[in-house]
Amino acid sequence: MAIRRAVAPGSFDPITLGHLDVIERASGIFDEVVIAVLINSSKSGLFSIEERIAMIEESVAPLGNVRVDSWSGLLVDYCKEREISVIIKGLRAVSDFDYELQMSQMNLKLKGVETFFMATKPDYSFLSSSLVKEIAKYGGDVSSWVPSNVLGALKSRYGALGK
Ligand code: PNS
Repeated sequence: MAIRRAVAPGSFDPITLGHLDVIERASGIFDEVVIAVLINSSKSGLFSIEERIAMIEESVAPLGNVRVDSWSGLLVDYCKEREISVIIKGLRAVSDFDYELQMSQMNLKLKGVETFFMATKPDYSFLSSSLVKEIAKYGGDVSSWVPSNVLGALKSRYGALGK
């Protein structure tokens, strides 16, 4: 039987508990889930690609069928090269839908790669890496929304948190 491999793509700058929730649920459905950290040369992140990968690897270590990779270029080319048939995307709210639908239709048209959408848990529907960074930058408490290794990394990047 063919292995059902899915990719969970994103910037993951940094990974949040919202991402991890979707990845964990997807890992129960697919034989293998590859987390692809997409390199965007026109966007400089807070964390380097290597730092993001290391934090993700630590966070998904308990999940036996999840691995982490990075890619620069079109997601559909990555999928074809690695024999991945499905892209997994978490949908937080209707506001995500327009753009995600457009990308999924484009990816289907480009290389016939399907996209499966998973509804995020309501606890994380307002969560984004950008908001986490902004809150952490100004000393807000983000401990409910990121894994402990990310919390530590934000702390050393921005100074004391949780004030
Ligand atoms: O975490 P993000 O930044 O919302 O993820 C967006 C991402 C990286 C998944 C998306 O921009 C993407 O797929 N980039 C790869 C380049 C590509 O294939 N672009 C065409 C999309 S139709």
